Amino acid sequence: MSVTLESPLSARPLDVLGVPGQINLDYAASAPCARVAADAVAELLPWYASVHRGSGKLSRHCTLAYERARQAIGDFFGARPDDHVVFTRNTTDALNLLSRALPAGTTVVSFAGEHHANLLPWPRASVRLPVPASPGEAVRALNAALTELRRGAPADRPVLVAVTGASNVTGERWPVAELAMVARRHGARIVVDAAQLAPHAPVDVAALGVDYLAVSGHKMYAPFGAGALLGRGDWLDAAPPYLAGGGATSHVGAATHDVRWVTGPARHEAGTPNLLGAAALAAVCTALTDADPAALHAREQALLARLRNGLAALPHVVELRTFGPDAPRVGIVSFVVAGRDSAEVSAELAQQHDVGIRDGLFCAHPLSRRLLAEAATRSGRTDLPPTALRASLGLGSTTEDVDRLLTALATLA
Ligand SMILES: Cc1ncc(COP(=O)(O)O)c(C=O)c1O
Repeated sequence: MSVTLESPLSARPLDVLGVPGQINLDYAASAPCARVAADAVAELLPWYASVHRGSGKLSRHCTLAYERARQAIGDFFGARPDDHVVFTRNTTDALNLLSRALPAGTTVVSFAGEHHANLLPWPRASVRLPVPASPGEAVRALNAALTELRRGAPADRPVLVAVTGASNVTGERWPVAELAMVARRHGARIVVDAAQLAPHAPVDVAALGVDYLAVSGHKMYAPFGAGALLGRGDWLDAAPPYLAGGGATSHVGAATHDVRWVTGPARHEAGTPNLLGAAALAAVCTALTDADPAALHAREQALLARLRNGLAALPHVVELRTFGPDAPRVGIVSFVVAGRDSAEVSAELAQQHDVGIRDGLFCAHPLSRRLLAEAATRSGRTDLPPTALRASLGLGSTTEDVDRLLTALATLA
């Protein structure tokens, strides 16, 4: 494993793979592969065999590796003893799993600023609160909504609050611990969509008071197709299995109804699991545990400041934001180039400058449209395009990457 912490800005704290000359500033979509993830997979490949299905040495090795991965990921995210770590394909899969495991009659409360993965799986009767103007307003709005919801309703009616840890559009961090405290005060549970937060900052469910967490391996430098839902075991054990099939049962009789489902993570993991994905994600979690979070944070924030200051200095560029300009954020910035179509700009950056960023509405259409309208009002410009651009940073990003983007954007009129 290569964890080399050096001075901020010039350092590459955790090695990631890449192609020389190609500037990847699209980590928020899918981060590059960490060397530790690639190494973990390469090490396991000769042993590759079934998981939980064979008694041969290879199979037992793989079963052990799979369960060790579960343990490592649970430890990394601060899982409590009664939490389950269920392997999924990604965050979308994890949140869909949770939505199917909700007790009957559960009301889900979320904000309109969520990624589609944390808006669309929830029941139709869910409460969607307006996008708040500040983290404090989010906390107050949730408190008011839960007070209203509890008024006259049975105290044991299940309520789930679903919020993002960090926005995939703006990178802004949401006040997860405070929202969790409000949820708890009203007897509600909370799930955090940590797809964008977990790659950038330590997330500990026990310390935050969070009930469930959803993450994607491919956004955490482990692009081998695994994600996870982590959290309270009781709803998960009481729910019908997310997938029905082998590995999720303890008994299957001759009659169609004669099935007993296991409890624990296996209940929702029917079928042969993604061992390599699990091992890759666990390897990254272990490497991040061994790294210095303060140094990683300082490095990323320095790059982010350089990027945002550079963008602010370009007269034709307008940043998108939900909260104030100084709100805490991870290494993600969305913006528009006035008078230019965003898809054309990103194509030009790719073709002429070898710089890869994202354009569009980022699978957060309600939020992106709202922020584009707000950017037009704030800037007073009438020539902003209907979609945006997004640059995002991570472990392999350098000052040179940021400067290449800024230089390229400066050439666009
Ligand atoms: C905040 C957020 N939540 C959920 C998702 C969905 O992640 P995945 O596509 O890995 O399921 C994304 C992906 O961009 C995201 O940014």
